[in-house]
Amino acid sequence: MINLTINNLPVQVSEGQTVLDAAHKLGIDIPTLCHLKSTGGCHVESKTGSCRVCVVEIDGRPNLAPSCCTPATEGMKIITSSLRVINARRTMLDLLLSDHPKDCLTCEKSGDCQLQDLAAKLGLHRIKYKGEMSKHEIDVSSESIVRDPNKCIMCRRCETACNVVQTVGVLSGVGRGFEAVVGPADLRPLSETKCTFCGQCVAACPTGALTEVDHTYKCWNAINSGKTVVVQTAPAVRVALGEAFGMEPGSVTTGKMVTALRMMGFSKVFDTDFSADLTIMEETTEFIERLKSGKNLPILTSCCPGWVKFFEHQFQDLMHIPSTCKSPQQMFGAIAKTYYAKKIGVKAEDMIVVSVMPCLAKKYESARDEFNASGTRDVDIVISTRELASMIKEAGIAFDHLEESQYDDPLGESTGAGVIFGATGGVLEAALRTAADWVTGKDLQEIDFTAVRGLDGIKEATVKVGDLEVKAAISSGLGNARKLLEKIRKGEAQYHIIEIMACPGGCLNGGGQPYTGGRCDEILAKRMEAIYRDDKNAKIRKSHQNPSIKKLYEEFLGKPGSELSHKLLHTHYHGRRNV
Ligand code: FES
Repeated sequence: MINLTINNLPVQVSEGQTVLDAAHKLGIDIPTLCHLKSTGGCHVESKTGSCRVCVVEIDGRPNLAPSCCTPATEGMKIITSSLRVINARRTMLDLLLSDHPKDCLTCEKSGDCQLQDLAAKLGLHRIKYKGEMSKHEIDVSSESIVRDPNKCIMCRRCETACNVVQTVGVLSGVGRGFEAVVGPADLRPLSETKCTFCGQCVAACPTGALTEVDHTYKCWNAINSGKTVVVQTAPAVRVALGEAFGMEPGSVTTGKMVTALRMMGFSKVFDTDFSADLTIMEETTEFIERLKSGKNLPILTSCCPGWVKFFEHQFQDLMHIPSTCKSPQQMFGAIAKTYYAKKIGVKAEDMIVVSVMPCLAKKYESARDEFNASGTRDVDIVISTRELASMIKEAGIAFDHLEESQYDDPLGESTGAGVIFGATGGVLEAALRTAADWVTGKDLQEIDFTAVRGLDGIKEATVKVGDLEVKAAISSGLGNARKLLEKIRKGEAQYHIIEIMACPGGCLNGGGQPYTGGRCDEILAKRMEAIYRDDKNAKIRKSHQNPSIKKLYEEFLGKPGSELSHKLLHTHYHGRRNV
């Protein structure tokens, strides 16, 4: 152990820990900006030491030291709030702000901006340094992410998320000196790159340099269009939305969310958990067929559009193994605009389907050319959890005081298996519950496959499905997916089924969820607990026992894997340029 003092208080830390870690141990808050550390579900650590707002004085060292990347050493004497330190921090921030747009009132990130927070915290009310400001084009080319380099402070947190955590390799430093920004090579538009639109860069960005494409106004327009506007809400939204209203992380707000959506004017409020159950019907059918034939194994789940785009760019030689099932979002759209539209006597083109998703890649997914099984775009508008929160606030709804209400029928009925889609391992567990019943022909009671749960980036389990020993793997975060896929490519691993989610921790940690700041690990764990609590409390916990799903097959689709199911619920993939 290492002994040191900070502000005259003794503290002990382990080898390899930084001065910042030691200060945190004493409860001393040192401001940071470029530093990002989260070792649990988020698996992010960025220490570029570029912003210098975390500087401290170290006895015997002539210059100030950045505490976030200075290792603690034996006998160090540190002062964190001398006048010299305070002046240096203010100067660093003043310099950053001197080349930063002053549109905080209208900035997407206002209220969630760490630069804004820091200015308030350091008492910086006037900007001393004025002069020429850099001017860059804003990239609005993608369906999911807006990149405004004018707001980039070169902290490189996005670069860590994109290259180290996700291994996507799109964002890096471009240009020199005053012109330097973080962006794609040659500052190519994001839509022309291998960006997966997972949004982890948006979650990591401390300013408004990376934000989601805002669809809130489009959504208000739709609600007031006179058309039938139905909304679906993804499993992970209900356990995070409350955070935007000051509720404790892990609060399950399903009933209040449904009430709020009705008050906003949606014609019907439905649940993506319903189509998650539908996904299990189709995907498990496909899995059992492949298990029997021994072909195209391991089957890879395909619910996550960020992951799908990743393999379309980077693993084209393995494009025959992902399941052909569409994601629950797209299955919902296809069923809403065919089966449900027919039921209520509305033409597909007179129905608008809105999704509320924890994910930014879902915006891109809904716009993919092939997703028009109903003859029109199956999902018209996608808003994130954050966008829904801002719409609820805009509508003046006192969210925390709302009465709870139920989803509408028939696309609102779901099971515990549908809700666990929101957590890493959940899709696989839901599939195993159904596969085990179908293979044995029994209604098995042991349905908690706990070996596939938890926030570890890669999990492996061998699970009994009837007489079969199913070898399963789960990865969350694209860097972890890459590790698994490289093993498969080289023939070094034999699995039957693999679940992959682009975001570390799964959809709970999607790029469209309320920002977690430095509390990612703790918040993610609570959201995950809430998901499994919701599953435990569900009356029905297996997808194939969902009465509305059974009725959908009886009245419309026939059986899982039928010709109509294939037409509406399955898809194909495209190889894409790896740039
Ligand atoms: Fe330490 Fe930026 S937070 S240098």
